[in-house]
Amino acid sequence: MERSPEPELMDGGEQALAYARADFEEPNSRFVESFVARFGEPAGRVLDLGCGPADIPLRLARRSPAVTVTATDGAPAMIDLAVRARDAEPALRQRVELVCCPLQALQLLEAGYDAVISNSLLHHLHEPMAFWAAVRHYARAGAAVLVMDLARPSSPEAAQGIVDAYAADEPPVLREDFYNSLHAAFTPAEVGAQLEAAGLEELAVEAASDRHWIVSGRIAAA
Ligand SMILES: C[S@@+](CC[C@H](N)C(=O)[O-])C[C@H]1O[C@@H](n2cnc3c(N)ncnc32)[C@H](O)[C@@H]1O
Repeated sequence: MERSPEPELMDGGEQALAYARADFEEPNSRFVESFVARFGEPAGRVLDLGCGPADIPLRLARRSPAVTVTATDGAPAMIDLAVRARDAEPALRQRVELVCCPLQALQLLEAGYDAVISNSLLHHLHEPMAFWAAVRHYARAGAAVLVMDLARPSSPEAAQGIVDAYAADEPPVLREDFYNSLHAAFTPAEVGAQLEAAGLEELAVEAASDRHWIVSGRIAAA
């Protein structure tokens, strides 16, 4: 089926809150485990693009005292929730920096991150190459990159089947978001073409489940 983009930022208060309250324990811990399985224990400076309520960066920081995370999102409603979650754990305040800025306008003081991660951001973007340009710009040579997102199903019926299978108990606003996100998602083949166009051939895309793909690898030396 054709891609139909959705609004980029998740800045509705109700939408952000419903998202933050949803149970992402399984996929988010799988994201962290997947990072560790590919690259070892995280260390150094990690950049998370499109962090939402910051569940993944907080998990990383909790797990690895050697890590500092810069977590960014363009939606003030999401960053508000992220700040609240981080500040509830005083030990993490110094190691998780939260930045509210759209990806396309991001101007962090320093590049050279040791790892760049992102979960479920790419499908929001109307122009996906801005994302890969940010990965390239902020990652140092040798940096670990782990990006996960939804894969667009072949039909609206298949999309509805995935929503019914995995979000049956979620509130309607979240089910609707999920359905729209599946329509907005890229296929692994499209992501592969984006990586090639961005000159990031060292990163590989693979199917990760019936509804996800993963991009991973290390940035090559210039
Ligand atoms: C589906 S949520 C994923 C949040 C988080 N990564 C997670 O795994 O729970 C997508 C996030 O991307 C953010 N986003 C969408 N477009 C963006 C953009 N252009 N710049 C920065 N953040 C953006 C949204 O505001 C939202 O918080």
